Amino acid sequence: MAKKEENNAELMNKVISLCKRRGFMFPGSEIYGGLANSFDYGPLGVELKNNIKNLWWKKFVQQRDDMVGIDAALIMNSKVWEASGHLKNFSDPLVECKKCHHRFREDLLEGKEKCPDCKGELMPAKQFNLMLKTFLGPVETDDSVVYFRPETAQAMFVDFKNVLDTTRRKLPFGIAQIGKAFRNEITPGNFIFRTREFEQMEIEYFIGEKEWEKTFEMWRKEMWSWITDDLGLNEKHVHENDIAELERAFYSKKTIDFEFDYPFDRKELYGLAYRTDYDLKKHFNEAPYEDLETKEKFYPHVIEPSFGVDRSVLAVLLDAYTEEDDRVVLKLKPKLAPYKVAVFPLLKNKPELVKKAREVYNILKKEFNVAFDDRGNIGKRYYSQDEIGTPFCVTIDFDTLEKDDITIRDRDTMKQERIKISGLVNFLNEKIN
Ligand code: GAP
Repeated sequence: MAKKEENNAELMNKVISLCKRRGFMFPGSEIYGGLANSFDYGPLGVELKNNIKNLWWKKFVQQRDDMVGIDAALIMNSKVWEASGHLKNFSDPLVECKKCHHRFREDLLEGKEKCPDCKGELMPAKQFNLMLKTFLGPVETDDSVVYFRPETAQAMFVDFKNVLDTTRRKLPFGIAQIGKAFRNEITPGNFIFRTREFEQMEIEYFIGEKEWEKTFEMWRKEMWSWITDDLGLNEKHVHENDIAELERAFYSKKTIDFEFDYPFDRKELYGLAYRTDYDLKKHFNEAPYEDLETKEKFYPHVIEPSFGVDRSVLAVLLDAYTEEDDRVVLKLKPKLAPYKVAVFPLLKNKPELVKKAREVYNILKKEFNVAFDDRGNIGKRYYSQDEIGTPFCVTIDFDTLEKDDITIRDRDTMKQERIKISGLVNFLNEKIN
């Protein structure tokens, strides 16, 4: 293996091992031997993931005047998928090995003509539909077949009239949603990069047709701002890829993928698509929007910024993972860190220090997610918090008992300063927000 590839594989393994060791992510159903590429978010992972989702919702829904949110059912009437074209078109080319019968996504084989697992001969490609099927109700008949949604997007189209009528919005405006999506992926893999159950944060932004180029550009910039300012990803690791017509999803007239340099390859992080009026036309027999001034009725066009939650988590972890001298540090943006601050009594066996540390912990707990640690020595506690990205550690010592001040240590600079307990919440709020 070439040196760079070796380092990349090593980075991926280190991040996966950290995730398991510290409780960011566990293999799903592990005690039963796991379930092909399913993962459970552990106590730290769920905090990181929720911080990403909450930040996104705040930025793109609550802080904007042109956006509203919904939270729709995961399983929708099958007619939705018939109308949207997913039952017919949402498929990947699948090839099967004649000898070992392993199956592969043809486009991921990168031109290989033999089976990557046993070098056997491959059969010609077939289209394989990615919709995940189940049955609703006690009888398993053709009529009771339903599908888990493969994207959150369709609910925003199906609910378009309801949102319009209840919120009296005027174009341009967007509907946003965060939620699970399911795809029967042929080859899931690379940890949480491609799974069959994942989460999306999507926006369907409705406009007049003439506005599409300008709006596409506005969202392109918004996505960059999210990637670099909010997630804090290194912009050198993110690249735009203007997708050629033949490779675009069946509904898209223009797509830009934001790709990230994952250790295994440069791959899609997010997508930005111009879906035209394709979806609203499929779902509504009559034009669902009326211009209040001109009284003209028409089908709005749609720009769709689509963000994968799990790919965000993976990219953030990979970019934050740092080895410095003898410590591992997750240099997460403080807003994303599972714990914002950890509180330590200098010595575990001094009840007066432990009592004071608990008092400080309880004050901070009202504002932030806080860790408390009294195991081992202070150095070990710092390293343990560094590894999970806690931006600040507060130590209570004998001076605290007299002067009501504490030592606060910064994760990245490792510098320590002394501040009054009364000023601690403000200090942290300023640093974190
Ligand atoms: N509504 C548009 C849509 O679903 P997509 O490019 O197929 O477009 C959007 O998916 C995003 O969802 C991707 O950019 C990626 O972040 C995430 N995503 C898609 N498939 C995924 C999978 N199997 N596992 C994890 N994330 C996935």
